[in-house]
Amino acid sequence: MSLLEVTDLRIRYVRQGRLKAALRREPRDFEAVCGVSFQLDPGQTLGLVGESGSGKSTIARTLIGLKKSSGGSIRFDGAEISDASARDWGRLRREMSMMWQDPVGSLSPRLTVKALVTEPLRINGMKASRAEAVRLLSLVGLPPEFANRYPHQLSGGQARRVGVARALALDPKLLIADEPTAGLDMSVQGEVLNLLAEVQARSGVAIVIITHNLNLVRHVTDQMAIMYLGRFVEQGPTEQIFAQPRHPYTKALLEANPEPDPEARQDYVPLSGEVPSPVNRPTGCDFHPRCVHARPDCAARVPDWTEEGARGHRCMYPL
Ligand SMILES: Nc1ncnc2c1ncn2[C@@H]1O[C@H](COP(=O)(O)OP(=O)(O)O)[C@@H](O)[C@H]1O
Ligand SMILES: [Mg+2]
Repeated sequence: MSLLEVTDLRIRYVRQGRLKAALRREPRDFEAVCGVSFQLDPGQTLGLVGESGSGKSTIARTLIGLKKSSGGSIRFDGAEISDASARDWGRLRREMSMMWQDPVGSLSPRLTVKALVTEPLRINGMKASRAEAVRLLSLVGLPPEFANRYPHQLSGGQARRVGVARALALDPKLLIADEPTAGLDMSVQGEVLNLLAEVQARSGVAIVIITHNLNLVRHVTDQMAIMYLGRFVEQGPTEQIFAQPRHPYTKALLEANPEPDPEARQDYVPLSGEVPSPVNRPTGCDFHPRCVHARPDCAARVPDWTEEGARGHRCMYPL
């Protein structure tokens, strides 16, 4: 059985500038996530990839109950949770853990590392001993003396390690990491991703990694989904998608983050143009205004989801 089973998930926001919209008789809200489906097994990693504004963080916020969905189903550990009560969430929040973009920078600079990593325990009324802090630090490869340090005494990589330790404090079944490597040097990014993979091998935690950098997820995810304007445009086993992207957007993203090997870069087509807004969606395929392979009917209708074995895509003229 899958740990997480998301089916046709829809999420709406009330738009900003509502009064102006009302005067122009435009709708008051819009769909930021329009029917995404995926499954995640225990011990597996899913990469959610897409440019800024595609709806990745919105999905994360809904998975951990901070934002209500407007349709579809979310099953976690066998139970529907999209309509869970506040009381259910008390328990669910211990089983799902979120690692935010800047996990330590956003926390109090006055707390020691010991206090930071054991805070989730204290919030849930559990004992937060020094021994527990040292155990959590050892999980992420930091020596015991780090327990007494303050956030400003940590490097970027060490701060992310502390963020991972904190996210593991309650031994969650699911860890959601939203841009866990944003703002780090390339070498440190690799270090943080390797750490997540190591932690997973030891604890069996399932991980959702959110990123706008497709190449980063190559070595640490089993499955990946590429998002564009609130929809999955392609999804499947990571290796298959890297070996042969079928959707032009996937290919463009891959080529926008080229591997160092110049041979692999021959037909480099940069991804140009702005990401359109989900408030004012293009007609037809969301990606057609930026697609170098677009044909006239791509503007006329939204392509269906097409499954091909373990993978699928949403393109009428796949590569
Ligand atoms: N609180 C909010 N109110 C209204 N619109 C929002 C809100 N949060 C995000 N959005 C919009 O929803 C879309 C998806 O945003 P987000 O999930 O943050 O994307 P990503 O994480 O992929 O960058 C964007 O168009 C964004 O402007
Ligand atoms: Mg985001």
